Amino acid sequence: MPAMNIILLGPPGAGKGTQAARLQATRGMIQLSTGDMLREARASGSPIGLKVKAVMDAGELVSDAIVTALIGERLDAAGGQGAIFDGFPRTQAQAEALDLLLAERGRNLGHVIELMVDEDELVRRIVGRFTCANCGAPYHDELKRPQVEGTCDVCGSHEFKRRPDDNEQTVRTRMAEYRGKTAPILPYYEARGLVRRVDGMASVDEVARQIDAILDGVA
Ligand code: AP5
Repeated sequence: MPAMNIILLGPPGAGKGTQAARLQATRGMIQLSTGDMLREARASGSPIGLKVKAVMDAGELVSDAIVTALIGERLDAAGGQGAIFDGFPRTQAQAEALDLLLAERGRNLGHVIELMVDEDELVRRIVGRFTCANCGAPYHDELKRPQVEGTCDVCGSHEFKRRPDDNEQTVRTRMAEYRGKTAPILPYYEARGLVRRVDGMASVDEVARQIDAILDGVA
């Protein structure tokens, strides 16, 4: 059976990255996060990284050409693994480009899973989050502090970091970008019967259960 490819769609903080990482760990699928790819490019100081820094810090969308090229490269490296598109596509042009990239590689789109959420709660989720600077383990000021203050539960590191675009003003811009440019691509997939919805306000485990039921064909 060919590997399944899915899109996780939802505004900033909806839980796309959380669920994509889990699916990668449990199902042998590969997480393709354009946000992570762009942050890697920034950290490396590459020409693309320098170009996208200001755009990302303002909470605006990077150009379709850049993100489509990044996704194409990673898809080539994915071999036969099913892909979880996390944060891509975000515009109609990216959605059409993805169709082409998949068709060229003999891949199909199985589902577009929309995480349904409440925006004000998302601002709280995002503004409070931080990660271990060493191993990337996720934490939150209110929802999940390290068991020993200042020490990572997973690797024991004492260094933590926050994303530069995780402040309230930038988050509001990111939400507006989602409403204006990303949510309008849903009808493109609805017309093909691909959209499934899950309750993104439920617990991480419950969201996971709902997604698994869709992938296993029992929902
Ligand atoms: P990107 O990195 O994709 O950020 P985003 O879409 O804004 O999404 P986030 O990573 O903030 O949230 P998420 O939905 O993954 O939630 P998470 O699981 O982390 O993009 C960043 C920037 O890059 C963009 O602004 C843009 O500039 C650029 N970019 C990226 N892709 C692009 C593209 N295709 N085109 C153009 N530009 C692009 O969860 C959030 C928090 O909530 C965490 O603390 C988590 O632990 C917690 N949490 C998760 N699920 C739950 C739950 N069910 N209950 C309680 N807490 C939860």
